[in-house]
Amino acid sequence: MESRGTWTPSSWQERAVKQQPTWPDPAALESSLKQIATLPPLVFAGEARSLQTELGRVASGNAFLLQAGDCAESFEDFSADNIREKLRVILQMAIILTYSVGVPIVKVGRMAGQFAKPRSSDFETVGGIDIPSFRGHIVNDATASEAARIPNPERLVQAYHQSASTLNLLRAFTKGGFADLSHVHSWTQEFVASSPEGQRYEKLAAEIDRALSFMRACGIETEANSNLSEVDVYTSHEALIVGYEEALTRRDSITGDWYDCSAHMLWIGERTRELDGAHVEFLRGVGNPIGCKVGPTMTAEELLELCAILNPSRIPGRLTLITRMGADKIEEGLRPLLRAVADAGHPVVWACDPMHGNTFTAPSGRKTRHFDDIVREISGFVRAHRAEGTWPGGIHVELTGENVTECLGGGDELLDSDLDSRYETVCDPRLNARQGVDLAFRVAELIQDFT
Ligand code: PEP
Ligand code: CO
Repeated sequence: MESRGTWTPSSWQERAVKQQPTWPDPAALESSLKQIATLPPLVFAGEARSLQTELGRVASGNAFLLQAGDCAESFEDFSADNIREKLRVILQMAIILTYSVGVPIVKVGRMAGQFAKPRSSDFETVGGIDIPSFRGHIVNDATASEAARIPNPERLVQAYHQSASTLNLLRAFTKGGFADLSHVHSWTQEFVASSPEGQRYEKLAAEIDRALSFMRACGIETEANSNLSEVDVYTSHEALIVGYEEALTRRDSITGDWYDCSAHMLWIGERTRELDGAHVEFLRGVGNPIGCKVGPTMTAEELLELCAILNPSRIPGRLTLITRMGADKIEEGLRPLLRAVADAGHPVVWACDPMHGNTFTAPSGRKTRHFDDIVREISGFVRAHRAEGTWPGGIHVELTGENVTECLGGGDELLDSDLDSRYETVCDPRLNARQGVDLAFRVAELIQDFT
């Protein structure tokens, strides 16, 4: 393997960097990045270390990761309601998984910073003219006009501030009573409550209530126990715009190590994971737990090099490999990778992204995914782990708490003709709350069969 020079927060700048916007005004970019570099960190190094410890438990098969949220957060669709609804689904899914699988669920949102999108092409043709592609609200606007698509570095600053407010609300909801287990019934949205999944959830919530009453009757003070009244929901996003990530990279005063304080966990996308590229270079040097997407073209050899670069000290929980191969490819594609990583002794978390390998354009022209393909990919993922004797450590999904119509199938049996009614995503199609709750039950069954 090539030897790497000294890492610094800016050493990525010597590498080839993919998927960056062409900012029209370098001075304006410089000024935004300078401003961000002076602003407070969004998360603290100690929190990132706590997440890494929890992910270490996932790596050893004693916990399960639920990473979920928007494909791309939006500057427009930004409200307390929206954040609360997303949190509710995540809490519901986590409760279903905790109760059914019987291990702690590590909860990580694609939230409070998930703004930047990699694109397969720099341009898109609209009405016969080429305009720059939409790259997420941290860069430009989704409106299909040349002017809207010009990258604007002021958006970097706005993304920072929106992340700060989102995180503030997340902390308030998760520590201020909303996530108290005694409120387990109140997390169900009205539109979910009457559905079969909603009723299944209600039954489970009633069992939890009984268990809490039982504990209180035994003299255990459930009210005073923070394990029951608070949860940790960590934040994560794809570390795509490396200048933004660098501006938020700070030295931890306790350990002296560098942390990317834009989120607790950062991941490298499928399109920017070359071993000698800027994204791998940047993330190898920060102390946060990190992820990397693993698509169908990944080879065992390349993956072992990636593990060696990103986690040379083999710290459990440091590296999460997020597979996204497609429902038809996952089982056969994953097995040699599982074997190679296990044989090399790398203590990774394996998580399944069942979304990005199963996206297609429906006859209506809408980009979508079918709920059945999502379940099928997770089941192939679980089967591959069962065959190799490794732990199917988690799922990584795109969802929202709203009653959107973006993914086909599920309990509502959404059809292509339904997609238009509430198709609101600014990027990829997300599961709605009902589909999310349904998915959690399916995953719980798959993992229960596994254990
Ligand atoms: C994503 O997670 O939204 C994404 C773009 O995924 P991938 O890098 O796996 O295509
Ligand atoms: Co996506």
